[in-house]
Amino acid sequence: MSLTINIYYTGKNGSAKAFAKEMIESGVVNEVRNEKGNKKYEYFFPENDPETVLLIDRWESKEALDLHHKSPMMEQIVKLRDKYNLKMKVEQYTEVSMDNQNFESVIRNRTATRKFKDKKVEKEKIYKILEAGRLAPTAKNMQPQKIYVASSNEALEKIDKVSPCRYNAPTVLIVCSNKSIAWQKDGYSSYEMDASIVATHMMLEATNVGVDNIWIEMFDKKALKKEFNLEDNIEPVCLIPIGYKADDYKGNPLHNKRKDLKEIAEFI
Ligand SMILES: Cc1cc2nc3c(=O)[nH]c(=O)nc-3n(C[C@H](O)[C@H](O)[C@H](O)COP(=O)(O)O)c2cc1C
Repeated sequence: MSLTINIYYTGKNGSAKAFAKEMIESGVVNEVRNEKGNKKYEYFFPENDPETVLLIDRWESKEALDLHHKSPMMEQIVKLRDKYNLKMKVEQYTEVSMDNQNFESVIRNRTATRKFKDKKVEKEKIYKILEAGRLAPTAKNMQPQKIYVASSNEALEKIDKVSPCRYNAPTVLIVCSNKSIAWQKDGYSSYEMDASIVATHMMLEATNVGVDNIWIEMFDKKALKKEFNLEDNIEPVCLIPIGYKADDYKGNPLHNKRKDLKEIAEFI
């Protein structure tokens, strides 16, 4: 259980970024992180809006957040915010159960979902899934992954134009890899392998937090690049529709058709 607050600070002429920089460099961010009950206090810089900074603030409970609001540090934060004359938009999420499963049940419960209900995926869960993609190993740690989170009607319509496999999911992760960052040697590039590991991490984390998902290969990569204006070096590798399976979804008939261990593994 936890409580997440997303605060969008918007300013002018780079003031929001300057505010975040001062918060980080003055040590306020670290002080908040050390407060009892704080699980995350981190700034993000949305690429599509250079005048906005997003703070993700996560607390173990409402009581911990209330204590933070009453702390002397809060005055410091408010002073800084006023200094930079920032507008604030706050999104607060009620407690979302993350229901962490054990690893064994995650790998057994993950299965392809081909019919989603309309229910949206909570942002807190989406961030947790993305974090699993951030922590994935990549060749020489080059981290070429780039993940686009398609949730707007406009973005979902574009997905539907390039793939028949959204299955009504309210969010689709477009997992890409930057070919000019990925490790390369003798004509080989690890871009696809890296993105596949990232995608696998995210699928498993999605399952872990109770979000159904599926890996989609069937989409027109060229058309997707065009629809989303992706740069040449950004290569889409797979789509991962995520959401909650429809009540009448019968499950993937192939899920339990696994070969015997002796067919896929050998001690030599
Ligand atoms: C690389 C890869 C590509 C896939 N592409 C598609 C796809 O384009 N469309 C689809 O409906 N399912 C796709 N799937 C889902 C598989 O069919 C599914 O994972 C497989 O049948 C095993 O079932 P399970 O995931 O329920 O265990 C893909 C899975 C993988 C790993």
